[in-house]
Amino acid sequence: MIAIDNLVVQFGGVKPINQLTATLTAPVAGLIGPNGAGKTTLLNVLSGFVRPVQGSVALNGNGLLEMTPLQRVRAGLRRSFQTEQVVEDLTVADNLAAIADHIVPSPQRAEAVDRALAFIGLRPVADKLGQSLNLFQRRLVELGKCVIGKPSLILLDEPAAGLTDEEGGALRELVLRIPTEFSAQVLVIDHDVELIRAMCSETMVLDYGKLLALGPTETVLADPDVRRAYLGEL
Ligand SMILES: Nc1ncnc2c1ncn2[C@@H]1O[C@H](COP(=O)(O)OP(=O)(O)OP(=O)(O)O)[C@@H](O)[C@H]1O
Ligand SMILES: [Mg+2]
Repeated sequence: MIAIDNLVVQFGGVKPINQLTATLTAPVAGLIGPNGAGKTTLLNVLSGFVRPVQGSVALNGNGLLEMTPLQRVRAGLRRSFQTEQVVEDLTVADNLAAIADHIVPSPQRAEAVDRALAFIGLRPVADKLGQSLNLFQRRLVELGKCVIGKPSLILLDEPAAGLTDEEGGALRELVLRIPTEFSAQVLVIDHDVELIRAMCSETMVLDYGKLLALGPTETVLADPDVRRAYLGEL
């Protein structure tokens, strides 16, 4: 469970997060909103790249803002980035091992990497270099990095952007397996409303740093304010 209370982020005169209070409890929760709404900024606050000027965030009852980024990773926080971060001159297995080195005790590292490889279905290309991967495989590696160790919350920033419908569907099936197979909650940002509808039982809508709506995805997507502000309807 993610509990956000009265959160404010300020960059100069801009407040990309403005007095945000929200609690997310769904196993896979969605985060949507127009460009510049503050979605990535919220993920940056959760993972420790951005320090808010006010407010608190708790993950399963533990205050996150007091922790360093590394402490958050050790507490089970994982994230993927809007621009994928696969290391080009490392193999797929070593991209995963590079994460495991920091968070998994050495006797269990090989097993953790293998489990992640099996989960994302990339065992056949485990020895291929990052530079040889296509976009879908890169997104899978990003997802694999997120399930290494004992994840408690996985933050995904537009994991399906640029993928075909078929690839997006395959990614969705993997994400839906995470809560039961890894006991982790997932918070996913995406502009593809149909993907959010298929993946997230609960969705939060941000609109220029403010909470526009939060609740069951179907209810939220049918909300006239959401349709006006986000889906471009009058
Ligand atoms: N480091 C920064 N310094 C100054 N302004 C920033 C910084 N990061 C983000 N912003 C501003 O904060 C606002 C929210 O940006 P953010 O990246 O969180 O939006 P977003 O909802 O993720 O958008 P998108 O859908 O385009 O990815 C924007 O106005 C952006 O220009
Ligand atoms: Mg963003």
